[in-house]
Amino acid sequence: MDKVFYTSSADCPRIAYRKTGSGPVLILVHGFPESGILWQNVWPELSAHFTVIVPDLPGAGETVYEGSQLSMEQMAGTIKAVLDTELVEKCVIAGHSMGGYAAIAFAALYADRLKGLSFVHSGALADTEDKKETRRKSIELMRKDGGKEAFIRQMVPNLFAPSFKKIGAAEINRQTERALLLPVESMINFYIAMINRPERVEVLKKMAFPVQWIVGKEDTAIPVDKTMQQTYLARVNFVSVYPDCGHMAMLEQTERLISDLKLFTQFAYNSVI
Ligand code: MLT
Repeated sequence: MDKVFYTSSADCPRIAYRKTGSGPVLILVHGFPESGILWQNVWPELSAHFTVIVPDLPGAGETVYEGSQLSMEQMAGTIKAVLDTELVEKCVIAGHSMGGYAAIAFAALYADRLKGLSFVHSGALADTEDKKETRRKSIELMRKDGGKEAFIRQMVPNLFAPSFKKIGAAEINRQTERALLLPVESMINFYIAMINRPERVEVLKKMAFPVQWIVGKEDTAIPVDKTMQQTYLARVNFVSVYPDCGHMAMLEQTERLISDLKLFTQFAYNSVI
């Protein structure tokens, strides 16, 4: 899938997305500090079963953001613009971390477009006050000379489980170098959007479609216990806890994630809950 397509929305003069495969639509939404390329290890196999669409969120990859204050709702609007351009009525969205926060904002706004929602190391909670404070300090660091690089070099390796760090140094370096391509303004925009996002537990409870939870037991970015507390709230939940996995299942446990996303997406399109 090397072909990149483009559309636009009010705040994004250019929205870039990759599209491959055929059949029911599965949207893969990246997190922070990444872009759609994050999913490149999983889309080839999944596109044998589905039409896989992978957008770059506003300010990441090739998508240009020109608004004044980025929000999860705007990120959801980006996904909707892609669906509208592609004439896709219904889809399953898998959102990784910040991509999952955007996906549940999408569910709040456009529930009738969803067949299922997969949270890949993500969930419906807002930031705690402590977390907001930590993010504000990180924004101050990012604004300093050399601060962005210091932040990324410290953050990215910590997304992975200790066991992966031993064998996956090359992958972690690749992800770090990719993250360094993200402009500092985009990083700050994403952090502000995450600080401002509301809790969306009520959205979860009302979901008329199945929900999947991919949980890394060694995830230090999203506390595992908090994720587990959300996994019974929707009406139908698929829960997979991966031992020896941090925050990056698409890189740490690729085959398992492909298999779980395939199973869930097939179920979501066949279910009548
Ligand atoms: C992500 O992977 O998108 C971020 O770690 C999410 C977050 O900081 O809450």
